[in-house]
Amino acid sequence: MSAYAGRHAELYDLFYADKPYGDEASFVHRCIQELSPLHVSRLLELACGTGQHSFGFEKLGYQVVATDYSNDMLEQAKRKAAVLASGVDFRFSDMRDLRLAGEVFDCAVCLFDSIGYVETNEALINVLNGVYRHLRPGGLFIFEFWHAAAMLVHFEPVRVRRWEFEGSKILRISETTLNIERQLARVNYSIYEFRPDGCYVFLQEVQKNRYFLIQEVAFMLESANFKPIRWFSGFCWDAPICEDSWHILAVAQKVSCKSRQTKQS
Ligand SMILES: C[S@@+](CC[C@H](N)C(=O)[O-])C[C@H]1O[C@@H](n2cnc3c(N)ncnc32)[C@H](O)[C@@H]1O
Repeated sequence: MSAYAGRHAELYDLFYADKPYGDEASFVHRCIQELSPLHVSRLLELACGTGQHSFGFEKLGYQVVATDYSNDMLEQAKRKAAVLASGVDFRFSDMRDLRLAGEVFDCAVCLFDSIGYVETNEALINVLNGVYRHLRPGGLFIFEFWHAAAMLVHFEPVRVRRWEFEGSKILRISETTLNIERQLARVNYSIYEFRPDGCYVFLQEVQKNRYFLIQEVAFMLESANFKPIRWFSGFCWDAPICEDSWHILAVAQKVSCKSRQTKQS
């Protein structure tokens, strides 16, 4: 695992300082309130990164176990948790092999398109099976993914962004290529950190993330005994889903294998 490591993990919150994490956590809270048949108190987060949503969920009253497979991202999350006196329980876990010692949750979430990092159908099914094992019957799995329609219509091969941070100027160049057959966006990040003493540091990181169409995700959910309940365009309750919808928020419910078998027979 070489992505989201080292200095990239340290700079992550700067890169996403504009992201409305609090509003997104509130949107997920609304989904839970309006769509979950269960009272939700214990919430499992996959791919929590530096914990920006996790702290939002905690503020909304949930007891949060937040997992990621980047120790460096978790270290940032734990550092902030200490400052905030937060009780979020941050743990190392690869979502493709989720094993949380028999623990069961009322709801699970995986945000900011992180589910696409598992790339293959087989790995995605492993994620869904892991979530299934750790959810109470009827519990919701709420996750966000990159939408193929927007990616194929609007993808930008090169993006450049700049920030100022602790006296340094930071330049990030993102170069994206698509592997259409495997539905993967390969993003090559080149990050230059120009320091006040005239020196600069250069970091490079390649990430591969999958984009999906809604009906293929529906099919995979159903194969893993989840019922798709709602699809949202981003974090908007009523906006129609179209080729401008870059992010889809999926709400799926765990159905028991038994009730599915009865329905099918
Ligand atoms: C785009 S970041 C999102 C982090 C956080 N959810 C947020 O919204 O800021 C993607 C995260 O997914 C994590 N990740 C990728 N593949 C993973 C896997 N197989 N298991 C656990 N975490 C994974 C990375 O380490 C990274 O922290």
